[in-house]
Amino acid sequence: MEIVNLPAGDPHWDAALPVLQQLRTHLGAADLEAVLSSEAQRPSFFAAFEGGVCLGVCGWRVIANTSAGRKLYIDDLVTADSARSQGIGAALLEHAEDLARRHRCAVLDLDSGVQRHAAHRFYLRERLDIVSFHFAESLQVDE
Ligand SMILES: CC(C)(COP(=O)(O)OP(=O)(O)OC[C@H]1O[C@@H](n2cnc3c(N)ncnc32)[C@H](O)[C@@H]1OP(=O)(O)O)[C@@H](O)C(=O)NCCC(=O)NCCS
Repeated sequence: MEIVNLPAGDPHWDAALPVLQQLRTHLGAADLEAVLSSEAQRPSFFAAFEGGVCLGVCGWRVIANTSAGRKLYIDDLVTADSARSQGIGAALLEHAEDLARRHRCAVLDLDSGVQRHAAHRFYLRERLDIVSFHFAESLQVDE
């Protein structure tokens, strides 16, 4: 298995987007392009590949804030349906931890929807703790 970075326009996205869509079911190619080219703070991505097949995708960013100093935040973590429970998720998380150390981040964290019970079991097994409640409000946006 190899880990590849996925910059905007990288040909690996052809195989990686369908895997990412297993987590982000609303995300079309144009939506992804908008994220990757946004002027706003945005994630970078890497993916696990074996023989041209995408096994899993991770979106991440480095954030500086007052609570953590520098932290690596995981936006997306998904293993392809067909490759679950083979250690791919753990390998993606380990790569993200390596990135965090390289970027001098003392914390790695993420948000996970309350309904994702299987993912929560995975994170707890991987020794991540539940440390906060996440509050959100939907707003009307003028295009
Ligand atoms: C959460 C997720 C990323 C975990 O990925 P994964 O590749 O299945 O993770 P792993 O294989 O490392 O670990 C999963 C399970 O397989 C087991 N496992 C790991 N390596 C194994 C191996 N070599 N052989 C057999 N079982 C193994 C682990 O014990 C683990 O069990 P658990 O789920 O009861 O804790 C994956 O389930 C997923 O994509 N879910 C849908 C999307 C999602 O909810 N993402 C999180 C968004 S916040």
